Amino acid sequence: MQDSDSQAGAGPEPEVTSPEAASERSEWRNFYGRIRGKTMRQSQKAYLSEDLASLAPRGVTREENPGRELIDPQAIFGNDAPIWLEVGFGGGEHLVHMCARYPEVNIIGCEPFINGVAMLLGKIRAAGVTNIAVHPGDARDLMDVLPDGALAKAFLNYPDPWPKRRHHRRRFVTQDHLVPLARCLAPGAEFRVATDIPSYMAQALREVPRAGFALTGHGGEAWGDWISTRYEQKALREGRVPDYATFRRL
Ligand SMILES: C[S@@+](CC[C@H](N)C(=O)[O-])C[C@H]1O[C@@H](n2cnc3c(N)ncnc32)[C@H](O)[C@@H]1O
Repeated sequence: MQDSDSQAGAGPEPEVTSPEAASERSEWRNFYGRIRGKTMRQSQKAYLSEDLASLAPRGVTREENPGRELIDPQAIFGNDAPIWLEVGFGGGEHLVHMCARYPEVNIIGCEPFINGVAMLLGKIRAAGVTNIAVHPGDARDLMDVLPDGALAKAFLNYPDPWPKRRHHRRRFVTQDHLVPLARCLAPGAEFRVATDIPSYMAQALREVPRAGFALTGHGGEAWGDWISTRYEQKALREGRVPDYATFRRL
């Protein structure tokens, strides 16, 4: 990993090779639409140009909604089904799996890494799921504009580890991220965290309750409806151990 605190807003578009490298380069907020990895296949470019606009909720980015007016999340889907959130869906396998498994809910996925978004769009076509929306950017930008209690569940699967101690403050499980998440989740809503990094789970177990959650489960056994993600497979190949925690919004 690089050790850069540079803002992505300046200079030419960064070429990065992984989401971790992308996150090392940026403080997130300014890099909407700028994070690209290695060259995309023609089919993936077509998914982005043909499918993304109709799946992306309006009024989320700072460009589109500089006043940060709240949006009506039910208007995204045109129905009043419960809405779940997946933060950092990577290649989208868990997100599409959950949409297919729970057709009675709607799920919004957030992911700034545009190659991951393209992979997700391919999976959406293949699975034919329609109860999905995609914010191709930082989850905080979405949380900013959601009304209180808009979400019924949230997933944080294998978040960027930020292994260096001085970078732990950049992790998603900090109050900067967790307080907005708690505001957007309805009382009683579930928040799931999966990670292979022991210090990450330790931080989650400490910080998530401080933001207004109760721990309801923790251990090495995944949820019954879990599907293993790309990053979990990588962790297993490299000998790391998955750890899962479930919290409930108070
Ligand atoms: C280690 S990857 C894991 C991807 C996937 N969840 C999996 O398990 O395979 C973490 C992902 O979180 C995304 N991410 C990091 N911070 C984010 C944020 N603030 N909002 C949305 N996504 C974020 C990164 O771009 C990256 O794709």
